Amino acid sequence: MPKWLNDAVFYEIYPQSFYDSNGDGIGDINGIIEKLDYVKGLGCNAIWLNPVYDSPFMDAGYDVRDYYKVAERYGTNDDLVRLFEAAHKKDIKILLDLVPGHTSDTHPWFQVAKRAKESELSNRYIFTKTVWDAPPEYRMMCGICERNGNYMVNYFSSQPALNYGFYEITHPEWQLPCDHPDCLRTAEAIKAVMRFWLDKGADGFRVDMADSLVKNDDEKIATAKIWRGVREMLDAEYPEAAMVSEWCNPDRAITNAGFHMDFYLDHYGNGYSRLFRFGEWGDLAVFNKNGMGDLKGFAEEYLPAYNRTKDNGYISFMTNNHDMPRVTAYLDKQAIKLVNAFIFTMPGVPFLYYGDELGMRYQADLISKEGGFSRTGSRTPMQWCEGKNLGFSTSDFPYLPVDMSDDAPTVENQKEDPDSIYRVVTDMIALRHKYDDLHGNGELEFIYKDDEIPFAYRRGSLMMFFNPLDKEAEIETDSDGDVVYKIGDAIIEEGKVKLQPQSFLMIHTI
Ligand code: NOJ
Repeated sequence: MPKWLNDAVFYEIYPQSFYDSNGDGIGDINGIIEKLDYVKGLGCNAIWLNPVYDSPFMDAGYDVRDYYKVAERYGTNDDLVRLFEAAHKKDIKILLDLVPGHTSDTHPWFQVAKRAKESELSNRYIFTKTVWDAPPEYRMMCGICERNGNYMVNYFSSQPALNYGFYEITHPEWQLPCDHPDCLRTAEAIKAVMRFWLDKGADGFRVDMADSLVKNDDEKIATAKIWRGVREMLDAEYPEAAMVSEWCNPDRAITNAGFHMDFYLDHYGNGYSRLFRFGEWGDLAVFNKNGMGDLKGFAEEYLPAYNRTKDNGYISFMTNNHDMPRVTAYLDKQAIKLVNAFIFTMPGVPFLYYGDELGMRYQADLISKEGGFSRTGSRTPMQWCEGKNLGFSTSDFPYLPVDMSDDAPTVENQKEDPDSIYRVVTDMIALRHKYDDLHGNGELEFIYKDDEIPFAYRRGSLMMFFNPLDKEAEIETDSDGDVVYKIGDAIIEEGKVKLQPQSFLMIHTI
């Protein structure tokens, strides 16, 4: 387990929207290099970079055409290496995004595999025996290539699934077992990609759809086996490299598959969505001030998973990512401050999505860009300062429009504002670094009564008290101590914490 993870705070950078250094309207790697001090100033010491590989961008780069080449619009491989070096000088780690489940249909492997002529790449993707064979239980593209067969896709139609085999074989005429040499070669091909970038200085990977490799693998037994193999490779060859999975099942991802971290995402209506997003635009979220949230639903889902996995890895809370509406679509500013206090004081390894530190708004109703659809509204350019494109780009044609409202938050105006979300985010991250008890593997004792909000938790010597409601609340406590931080108004006296509406108190117990 890489030691640095215990005190890591990640910043997710969506490269096309972060900072455009050459005025072509699209963010780029040199732009990220220029802004490393900004990232450092937030207190973040690690970056997750969304895909920067060569791609036709039908899914914003999650459709890789060449795993070994940086997309021209972002720069060159050398630029990426310079980013690794510049980041390392500032003690910032960089995780690239690994897309192992599928490629673009323009990837040379697929171009060869879809030909009628058999080749050593014929089994790199999943093709049926003939075009007349299209079992409805699979997502197939039918009759669109020379080869007499339909192929399975993993996500959009332009993303054919790579072939890691089938755990249960239901159609032996075209499904290969996972230990077929061609399927094993697919895993080796992905490992080769990982080695290539790790050798160049990457510090690990965020793994896209990590659970999607082997098909007909409901319990993910064979998929986990592949990842354990990857983890063995990392432990032996790159012991400081880290992997975080987009899986949202820590038992499987951490315990079975060997990931160091697993994202706590809004999949399957789980505990995460209960916190910030549940119901009709958040009306049933725990942090909604109306008090209709399902705290018990969160606690009963998260705590057992946390307890089962905490000795082997970290569950990663995130402010948001590039796939979900920003939390500003669900909650008011004061609630979002509390959300940040929560995310940065919980165990695991937290992730901050670019712009969330400013309270950037979700831009509903934008026309879809590069396969973004409803996600496009969370992918708009970073808002740096007043002026053209809010400082993102000098181009007349930015990748996406910036927030046009008069009161659009920017780095410039939020840094100055003592009442900003930015202030809470940077304060909380600083406290997380300062107190060992707030680090990833520090203890957690979560205190809640049925579905009653407010709630509290202890992290070693620190106690956190939250009142998300729009009315005063009290929490009885045996603890006493010095106030470390508060949001809104809150006091502790005579065994009681008195919390004003939408407030938070952190104390250092004595
Ligand atoms: C999850 C990624 O986060 C998302 O943006 C992408 O579209 C899909 N996986 C497919 O790769």
